[in-house]
Amino acid sequence: MSVPAPQNENILGYGPGSPEKKEVKAALQELMAEQFEIPLIIGGREVKTGNLGKVVCPHDHGKVLATYHKAGKEEVQLAIESALSAQKMWQTLPWEQRLAIFLTAAELIATRYRAKLNAGAMLAGGKTVFQAEIDAACELIDFLRFNAGYARELYAKQPQSSQGVWNYTQYRALEGFVFAVTPFNFTAIAGNLPSAPAMMGNTVVWKPASSLVYTPYFIMRILEEAGLPPGVINFVPGAGSQVGDVCLADPNLAGVHFTGSTRVFHQMWKTIGENIASYRSYPRIVGETGGKDFVFAHPSAEIPSLVTALVRGAFEYQGQKCSAASRAYIPQSLWDRVKSLMLAQVGRITMGSPVDFRNFMGAVIDRSAFESITGYIDFAKEHKDAEIIAGGNYDDTTGYFIEPTVIVATDPEFKTMVEEIFGPVLTIFVYQDEDFVETLELCDKTSPYALTGAFFAKDRNAITLAMAKLEHAAGNFYINDKPTGAVVGQQPFGGGRASGTNDKAGSQANLARWVSVRTVKETF
Ligand code: ALA
Repeated sequence: MSVPAPQNENILGYGPGSPEKKEVKAALQELMAEQFEIPLIIGGREVKTGNLGKVVCPHDHGKVLATYHKAGKEEVQLAIESALSAQKMWQTLPWEQRLAIFLTAAELIATRYRAKLNAGAMLAGGKTVFQAEIDAACELIDFLRFNAGYARELYAKQPQSSQGVWNYTQYRALEGFVFAVTPFNFTAIAGNLPSAPAMMGNTVVWKPASSLVYTPYFIMRILEEAGLPPGVINFVPGAGSQVGDVCLADPNLAGVHFTGSTRVFHQMWKTIGENIASYRSYPRIVGETGGKDFVFAHPSAEIPSLVTALVRGAFEYQGQKCSAASRAYIPQSLWDRVKSLMLAQVGRITMGSPVDFRNFMGAVIDRSAFESITGYIDFAKEHKDAEIIAGGNYDDTTGYFIEPTVIVATDPEFKTMVEEIFGPVLTIFVYQDEDFVETLELCDKTSPYALTGAFFAKDRNAITLAMAKLEHAAGNFYINDKPTGAVVGQQPFGGGRASGTNDKAGSQANLARWVSVRTVKETF
């Protein structure tokens, strides 16, 4: 009997009067009314350190949703010990039973916890209901379901045998623990990074971003409810200097599953390099880091879809997706029409609290993001090579709000054109049509990143040329579509160069990083 292929979770519409809208509104009310404490979860037990951080709403930074206990070095050590002592039990559990726990979690999210996770991503992550739904519900469910399917396929793969010789492969978990470090911008990624190695039999120490502890904590509880045994995943929010330092110095570090900034990833890799002789095995390092994702238009591009890609790609979730459109190359012949349509659409963007479902944008995640992004806007304001044609204002009185901002740069290497900003700022370079090929080369070489990119053209030869010239410029390359919104099972996600190790989140390639294969040959 063949096994049914996993299906992508349906994206719910949240239209007026819909049951999902009622449910998410009720969950928003409930979460706003109740302030609670988030403990560490180590070996299945709650641990409280008394060293508290706050979970606040980005759109209303005076509103405290929860407090969370931060791990100190002692608790991190305890988390590592718990992970190591849970290993034997977890690895000897048949893989079918391990995977069933994650499939149970997917069902719990789809049927019982969807509204709570979405409301949490809206309040603590600053997402609109649609952005929450595609992340904290659908993508998270998809990661769990599809990875379970990929794992099953991987376990089934076996080499040829012959008469008198029996060859087989054992997909063993890594010897040691995996350190999962998760970002603020996607609840789905936060869930995927500890669960993918755990599916393959590994035990994990999980440090969520200090700016998104809330929904990861919900996921941790859901995994427990689904039957995850104590110690398999240990939840330890805290400072990188505490959690990271202890994990990276431990001789049993077997892997790192990371999504976050390029700077932190470099630092971690350097520390691992310095400690290399002290580890029992070479740690597997899997990371997705920054991006400076492009939208490139050929003169044959269709304007309405191009403009939609620019606006949605750059400003959905306040440009805080690693995949967000952040630089664009537009030919002179299209520029006037692109500009007027784009400015009309940007002018209609509504910004405010995500609890008001009419808003298209919310606030950026925290003060440090606000300061860094507005620093780039101020730089552009002062510089002769740049003109701000939309937005440029910001206000942090109640929340960290930054207007959707469009900069036109006359220099293709202008600071905002090449550096990652991670906010609602799009920089455009208008090129002469005859410089198309040269501009493709500029796009390829002026940024160190290679995560996502979108190319717009109707001309097939132009598409072929762009595919070749930009071969390594984007791990996810979109033709005539925006560079955001990869769907698990359809566009495996990740990039190369300074954007990461490109071990595609939600793929068999990723799961294969979390096993150490033993090949056995037995001769009769
Ligand atoms: N997977 C997310 C996207 O593609 C980051 O937008």
